[in-house]
Formats: sequence, C-alpha cells, structure tokens
Amino acid sequence: MDHQQAARIRHYQPADLEDMYRICLQTADDGQDATALFTEPRLVGDVFAVPYAVLEPSLAFVAEDESGVCGYIVGALDTQAFDRRLEREWWPALRVRYPEPAPDQAAALPRVVRLAVQDIHHPWLTPAELTDRYPSHLHINLLPRMQDRGMGRELIKTLAAALREQGSRGLHLHVSLGNPRAMGFYRHVGFSRLPASDVGVFVMDLSDPSSTNS
Ligand SMILES: CC(C)(COP(=O)(O)OP(=O)(O)OC[C@H]1O[C@@H](n2cnc3c(N)ncnc32)[C@H](O)[C@@H]1OP(=O)(O)O)[C@@H](O)C(=O)NCCC(=O)NCCS
Repeated sequence: MDHQQAARIRHYQPADLEDMYRICLQTADDGQDATALFTEPRLVGDVFAVPYAVLEPSLAFVAEDESGVCGYIVGALDTQAFDRRLEREWWPALRVRYPEPAPDQAAALPRVVRLAVQDIHHPWLTPAELTDRYPSHLHINLLPRMQDRGMGRELIKTLAAALREQGSRGLHLHVSLGNPRAMGFYRHVGFSRLPASDVGVFVMDLSDPSSTNS
C-alpha cells in the first residue's frame, strides 16, 4: 500500500537553509547521494543552492511534507548580474573557507567535488549568447521520497510563474551528461535542449504562456 504523505510548495524561509544543504548533498552525484564524496558536507550547497536562496529569496521555493522539507527549486532572474554579485558578495568568503587544492590534489577529487571547488575559485561565467535570450537559470533537487510524484513539474511551473512576474523572457539550466533521468524530465516538462557536447543545456521560452503547461 502507498503511504505517500501530502506535500505542498511554499516560499523559502531562512530556517530552511540547513535542509537545503542536506538535500543538495544527498542529490549532488548526478541525482544520487554524494555524502560519501564530500569531506566538507556544506561545500556543494554553498555553490549550487544556498547563494540563490540568500541572494534571490523571491525565486526560492521548497517542497515540504509531514516529515519536513524534501526538495527545493532556486533561480536567478538575471544570470549575468547574479554572476557579478557572486563575485562581490559570495565567492570571497568561500575562497577562504575552501582553499584551492594543488592541481594534483584536485585531479584526485571526485568529479562533483572538483567542479564545486573550481566554481568557487574560477567561476564559470555564462556566455552572453545564452543569457541574451534565456537570462534566468535554475537548480532543482528533490529527495528520493518526493521524486516521481509530480513535484518536479509543479516546482518548475512555480518558478516559471515567478520569473514571468518579474519580467524574465527565458530560462536555462545546465545538467551533467551523467544524469539522463533529469535530462528526460526537463525535456518532458517543456524545455528544449541546445546543442552542446560536454554538458546538457536546456532552455525554455517564458514569453510563450504554454511552455510549462504540457
Ligand atoms: C529530476 C527531478 C527534479 C524530477 O522531478 P520529479 O518530481 O521526480 O519528476 P515529476 O514526477 O515531476 O515528473 C514530471 C513529468 O516528467 C516525466 N519524467 C520524469 N522523468 C522523466 C524522464 N527521465 N524521461 C521522460 N519523462 C520523465 C514524468 O513521467 C512526469 O510526466 P507527466 O507529468 O506527464 O506524468 C527529481 O527527480 C530530482 O530532484 N532528482 C534528483 C536531483 C537531480 O537530478 N536534480 C537535477 C539536477 S540538474
């Protein structure tokens, strides 16, 4: 018998930060639990989840059931401006907290750990060709107990509506080629894939009101 708990979406609150760190870590290895890969458990959340909630709280939403927060979606309205803000307000403290490893040490790190550390010290800047048309971007992560229940679709709809309200014309995201499940999901809920060889780049036109209705 299925004992799934009722779930709801609400705006992020500062008290959710610890849950966001935990959820990010438990889904960071191409959707699987990355706890065993990180000696610093907050590192991955400090890169891919928490700065969004802290710097753009109006675009951060959590999924919650009776057992607590079990997923989130976070976004940045203007990726170029967000990148600049991270450089001023976010990365400097993290560069002290997580020193850059020597190249031979970095090469020995698990891929997801290496990418997170690299982002802190040498942030990847999103090209203008992408942000001109799709200025906003997102990250979405749900714990296994909340997966495959329609919550991912609802979170995408919620964020897309908030982005439209704030005037965004387009949304993009990057996904590792090692996460085919997420790629199938994004395609199914209304994103299109752009040609790119080493990473999946998915986009959604927010000026089309039907883009999240499928
Ligand atoms: C990827 C993820 C966000 C998807 O959310 P979800 O709640 O599990 O997906 P949903 O149940 O909302 O699925 C929505 C629809 O997409 C479909 N879908 C899901 N995965 C699919 C896939 N791989 N291929 C095709 N369709 C898929 C579902 O069947 C459903 O279809 P329907 O609404 O027409 O019935 C979620 O599983 C997750 O957080 N996974 C772990 C972390 C992760 O990988 N995050 C993404 C990092 S880039």
